[in-house]
Amino acid sequence: MRHQRSIKPYARPIAPVPGTVPVTGAEPLMSLQSADRLANPRTRTSESINHGRFLYETFCLVCHGAAGRGDGPISSVAGGPFFGVRSLVNDTIARRTDGYIYAVIVSGQVMGRGLMPVYGDKVRGADRWDLVNYVRTLQAGAKSPTGRR
Ligand code: HEC
Repeated sequence: MRHQRSIKPYARPIAPVPGTVPVTGAEPLMSLQSADRLANPRTRTSESINHGRFLYETFCLVCHGAAGRGDGPISSVAGGPFFGVRSLVNDTIARRTDGYIYAVIVSGQVMGRGLMPVYGDKVRGADRWDLVNYVRTLQAGAKSPTGRR
């Protein structure tokens, strides 16, 4: 029992058979350089931000917290078991490109953010950019004097 191979949530224990073709479209692996060049195709309309908020509350809040401070219920910052969660509302991340945030959502593993699970298989297409837009809203809220600090 103690020494068995345990499979982490979202891990893929069995490699796909050689020659397997993805049915939902293959994605090129991103690097920091290619991520930074991505242009956000979604205008920051309230529709986009509201949808981003729904996605954020579904997938991200547990770790990053309602205001993006890294203090979600399962984060060690709030006494939970998940270590290493970062704030999304500090100046460093605010200066990152939209493409960087997008790429971390697709795969933190590839982006050198190995502690964060992969979300590219759960959040797809324009939904990812709506999430980026909502993260920007959280950052703006954290900066404004009347905002949540
Ligand atoms: C299970 C906990 C968890 C969830 C859920 C989660 N993250 Fe993360 N996130 C992390 C951890 C841990 C890190 C730090 C990764 C590292 O440095 O290896 C991180 C890092 C990040 C970063 C990079 C921050 C930086 O300083 O470079 C961004 C952006 C981010 N997360 C966005 C999101 C978004 C958007 C979602 C929802 C799709 C999400 N995260 C869901 C745990 C989580």
